[in-house]
Amino acid sequence: MKNFENILKQNNQQHLLKYIEMADNNQKENLIKEIENIDFEQLNELYNISKRDKDKIIESCIIEHTSFVDKYKGDKQKLEEYKEKGEEIIKKGEYAVVTMAGGQGTRLGHDEPKGTFLLNVKPKPKYLFEILVDGIKRANEKYGIALNWYIMTSTENNDKTQEFFEEHEYFGYPKEKIKFFKQGNLPLISEDGKLLVDEKFNIKYAADGNGCIYKAMRKNGIIEDMKEKGIKWVFIGSVDNALLNMVDPILLGLTVSQNNMIGSKSVVKRSPEEPVGVFCKKNNKPAVIEYTELPTEMAKETDEDGELLFGESHIMCNLYNVEALDIISKNTLPYHSAHKKAAYMDENGNIIKVKKPNAYKYEAFIFDGFIFFDNISILRGRREEDFAPVKNAEGEDSPETAIKLYNDYWENK
Ligand code: UTP
Repeated sequence: MKNFENILKQNNQQHLLKYIEMADNNQKENLIKEIENIDFEQLNELYNISKRDKDKIIESCIIEHTSFVDKYKGDKQKLEEYKEKGEEIIKKGEYAVVTMAGGQGTRLGHDEPKGTFLLNVKPKPKYLFEILVDGIKRANEKYGIALNWYIMTSTENNDKTQEFFEEHEYFGYPKEKIKFFKQGNLPLISEDGKLLVDEKFNIKYAADGNGCIYKAMRKNGIIEDMKEKGIKWVFIGSVDNALLNMVDPILLGLTVSQNNMIGSKSVVKRSPEEPVGVFCKKNNKPAVIEYTELPTEMAKETDEDGELLFGESHIMCNLYNVEALDIISKNTLPYHSAHKKAAYMDENGNIIKVKKPNAYKYEAFIFDGFIFFDNISILRGRREEDFAPVKNAEGEDSPETAIKLYNDYWENK
């Protein structure tokens, strides 16, 4: 028996033999290579995750609420001190920004990289990437610097993303200050534990989640590059927030003053039911608890002022000391499974487009990196200044709501 046949038999994936029979020589060679390179031990562990009972895991943890500083209601003098401290570091060139742009943006339904989505804002439509460039340029002007900008892409969207930047001449940003790096990916698995194949006879893969950014930064020499450049503090944000402020000296100054290695910006949850993850302490370590995991009574709990005890939403505005990135990147983050729709080719060569989720995708989450520290500094911002997410094609957190938030913010500036 050939090596790949053995592998398939041992791992209960013999259905792939039919694809090997159907494929032409080149495709066959590729597919066999792919099979021989798959880490089946990891894959089997991942498949088991999909079957695990989330409630049981969370029941075994002690979940407590966590403290934060309000950017607008906090002690004015202290906030001013944080600002000065943060600005000093930024002006010294010790600050850099990172954008996570490796996601698939399935909910938005835009077939291209999400950053290339054109948002019809005033006075003229802008691409999400362009909005980010504008924000960094404003900071550069204000502080007399040129920030290093790192952009994480995925195997799926890397070429298209880089071509887009070339085509738009980097929206006037100095090209030498931008570095792209790719995150990893993992195979998708069908509900009955089988690998899927696409129309080109390749195993179906998907990006391994934004939590894999730490590993990807290490693997691609990004942490090293930052250290060589004298960068000490790094902001990591998402690609799909039209009000993202990547350079907030108060968040930086607060984190430094509280002697923490990590910090994050939050906004208050709209209601106990809003489907967002919130900051908490999990077994006395900083963490984010997903809305699906937070028991309803806890989600509704309030303090003496009537504020939600678990009300600080994680909005993907995270700050790290470069040493913190180093620490997290040497650790392994857990994978979470998501039930997703994935088109595939069946064993007769037909392309099957599905209407319902049919496959498991495995992702690490960025906030699972917080657990390696004793504390995190949280700065509560304001939704109307900090958070205009473009997640869904319509309704809440859609282009429509983001455009409104963007226009309102800039009209009142
Ligand atoms: P989301 O978790 O909202 O995912 O990403 P998404 O891919 O944009 O959208 P859906 O869930 O498929 O509809 C939050 C941020 O994390 C990035 C995204 O690009 C976005 O900036 N991300 C997500 C990655 O960089 N890699 C991933 O594997 C997943």
